[in-house]
Amino acid sequence: NHPHQQHQSGSTPGQISPRSQGLSTRKELYERDFPVYKQPVEVGCFSLDSERRFFNDSRQMRYYVEPDRNPNFDLRDGYKDRFIKRDDSVKEKLDHILRWIVANRSKLNSRVTPASSCALDVDFVTWRGHLTKLLTTPYETREGWLLAVTRFRGTLYISEVETEAAHRERENRTERHEEMMYWGYKFEQYTCADNIHSLPDPGGVVNTNEAFCTVVQTRLADHRLLFSGEVDCRDKDPNAPAPPACYVELKTSAEICTPKQRSNLHRFKLLKWWAQSFLPGVPRVVAGFRDHEGVVVSTETFHISKISHLIKNEYNCWKPTVCMNFCCDFLSFVKHVATEDNPSVVYLFSWEPHRDVTYSIHRDSHYSFLPHWYVEEITS
Ligand code: A3P
Ligand code: MG
Ligand code: MG
Repeated sequence: NHPHQQHQSGSTPGQISPRSQGLSTRKELYERDFPVYKQPVEVGCFSLDSERRFFNDSRQMRYYVEPDRNPNFDLRDGYKDRFIKRDDSVKEKLDHILRWIVANRSKLNSRVTPASSCALDVDFVTWRGHLTKLLTTPYETREGWLLAVTRFRGTLYISEVETEAAHRERENRTERHEEMMYWGYKFEQYTCADNIHSLPDPGGVVNTNEAFCTVVQTRLADHRLLFSGEVDCRDKDPNAPAPPACYVELKTSAEICTPKQRSNLHRFKLLKWWAQSFLPGVPRVVAGFRDHEGVVVSTETFHISKISHLIKNEYNCWKPTVCMNFCCDFLSFVKHVATEDNPSVVYLFSWEPHRDVTYSIHRDSHYSFLPHWYVEEITS
C-alpha cells in the first residue's frame, strides 16, 4: 500500500479518495521498516536572552544538577511574583533560525558548486517542534496543524501557522491552565544551574523568553534536514560526550499511583517525549512527578533508546517506525507539491484528525514568511 495519493484522476488505491489530492495519515500505512535516520550532528547553536534577543552563541546554556532522591519542589512558588512570560502572540516564524543561517553560512555549504541551484545544501529548514508534530500525527486525535512551505533556492522552508482552534485555545486559557504551563519552567529552575560550579537558584525569576537552541543537521531517507530545537540543559561533567549526546530534556508529569496511570504515561506522554528528543539526538529525559498540590515528589530518567522496549508491553501502542515513515512520506509529498521556487509563494499544508493532509497555494499573501533581509542575503 502506497500512502501517497495519486494526482491524476482515474484508478487510485482502495482507501484513498481521488478528490482530496491528499496524504493519508492512517497508521497502518506506515508500518514498514524503520527508515534511515542519520545520527544528528550539532552544527551550531544560538541563545535568546531575557528580552528575546538573538545571540550566535551558547550564553543561555544551563547545567543539569541531579535532584535528591526525595525532592520537594513547589512548582507553584513564584507564579504570581517571579514570572516573566514570553508574549506568545508574537509569531517569530523561522526568523531566529534564518539569523543563525546568515551568521553561519560558511559552515553549511561546504561543497563549492556555483552551478548548483541549492544555495544551502539542505532540502528542509524548520523547527524541531514542527517535525515533532509530524512524527506524532498518525496517533493524534485532538489537534490539527497548518504548515506553510516555501521553496527558495532549492531548499524547502517549513513554518507553522496557528490554527483557528489553537488561536481560540490560547486566548481562552483558564487561570489553572496558565499556572500549569508555568510549572514545567519552574521545574527547570529547580534542576538547572547557570554554570558548572553553581547550584540552581529557586529564588530567582523564571523568564520564558530565555532559551538555548541547538542547530542540527541530519538525513531522513533522502531528505537532508537542518533544524533547530530548544535544549533544556546539559550534563555538567566536562568529560560528558559532545552535543547533542550530553543534552538533557526536562519534563513534568502527574505522579503515578496506579498501573493504569503508568500505562497512560507510556501510551500518550512517552510518544511526545520520545519524538521531541529522538529528532535532535538528545539521549535522556528527566521527568519530575508532581502531586495534586504541584509539588515534585520524585524524578525518573527515561533513556530515549530504551523507550521503544518499554512500550512493547502496552496493548495497541504507538510505534516509532510509524512516526518516522509518516514524516518521511510527508516530506516526499512536500517536495512533490511545492515545486515553484519563489520566496513569496506559500504552499499551505493542513491537517485535521481523521482526515488526509491537504494543501492550498498562496501568492504574495499574509502567509509569506521568508523575510526580505533573508532573501536578499541568500540571493547576493
Ligand atoms: P512540561 O512539559 O514539563 O510540562 P519543554 O518540555 O518542551 O522544554 O517545555 C517546557 C515547558 O513549557 C513545559 O514543561 C510546559 O510547562 C510548557 N509548554 C511547552 N509546550 C507547551 C504546550 N504546547 N502547551 C502548554 N505548555 C507547554
Ligand atoms: Mg524546553
Ligand atoms: Mg522540557
